[in-house]
Amino acid sequence: MTAFHYPFATAVSRCLAPSKVMIAAAALALGGCGQQSGGGDQLVVGFSQIGSESGWRSAETKAARIAAEKRGVNLRIADAQQRQENQIQAVRAFIAQGVDGILLAPVVSTGWDPVLREAKAADIPVILVDRQIETSDPGLYLSVVTSDQVLEGRMAGDWLVKSVAGRNCPVVELQGTVGSSSVVARKKGFDEAISKAPNLKIVRSQSGDFTRSKAKEVMESAVKALGATNICAVYAHNDDMMIGAIQAMKEAGMKPGKDVLTVSIDGVPDIFRAMAEGDANATVELTPEMVAPALDMLAAFKKNGTQPVKWHQTETRLYLPDTAAAEYERRKNLY
Ligand code: AHR
Repeated sequence: MTAFHYPFATAVSRCLAPSKVMIAAAALALGGCGQQSGGGDQLVVGFSQIGSESGWRSAETKAARIAAEKRGVNLRIADAQQRQENQIQAVRAFIAQGVDGILLAPVVSTGWDPVLREAKAADIPVILVDRQIETSDPGLYLSVVTSDQVLEGRMAGDWLVKSVAGRNCPVVELQGTVGSSSVVARKKGFDEAISKAPNLKIVRSQSGDFTRSKAKEVMESAVKALGATNICAVYAHNDDMMIGAIQAMKEAGMKPGKDVLTVSIDGVPDIFRAMAEGDANATVELTPEMVAPALDMLAAFKKNGTQPVKWHQTETRLYLPDTAAAEYERRKNLY
């Protein structure tokens, strides 16, 4: 892995770097270099968050605020409303502000190299959270905090293979945001797992953009096109889409969780409630605690140059209805 070394440039030198015409424009928009961070011991960190498309995403943002407060970090969160151009603009604005570090949850996996090069030129370390990127130079970021998203898909697929026990099973797949690393990896893992079972076939696969409302529409049209009795299972790349699909199936007179098996990813409180009520069957947990380890790595790096691991892998775990009621109670007020 490429080592990542940043000299400790001052906020002022970052602001005056001659090649940063666009950064200077962003700085002016934010009130100019007078609003730089720097000085004092408090870390100032910019977080370019994707948006609030799912319950998991909102939980991650809340967890980030709590983690920052606990550590005395000044965390500036920019909501990109699921648009890469907004994220690029936010990263440029953080560079212009001279923050101590940047956290980036990349909505899609490609197209980041130019702005990451700008951050590197300004000596501002970037840590990726919850999604991966495709880059020609992994030295452009310090570390990434994510789960093994291929494993998430594989766990979901393995559970389904085991649960249908050889029965013929047409599956509807609800994919997340097109172009995101989560989609590519979760699909790969699931496809690998079900490739061992010729009785399981994906008969429809479409994006619900990780949102309840879009997934509900996609499920409604899947039910119309395939016929309610020709769907044996639904695999959704996140729980919110599964909640939307469950609504669509119920409105069509189907019985998700009973006649139609469901498996999704995230572990949000609502899916535990659906499992406890018998409307859903399984979820693979993705922890929303991504920013806490990222801030710790950043703090150690800034303090004494400690190089973090290149990939901080978070835990992945499958949950079933037996613990759903208790899990719902435990989680409902967590974030
Ligand atoms: O990248 C993580 C995914 O993004 C979550 O599974 C999903 O809910 C979110 O929108």
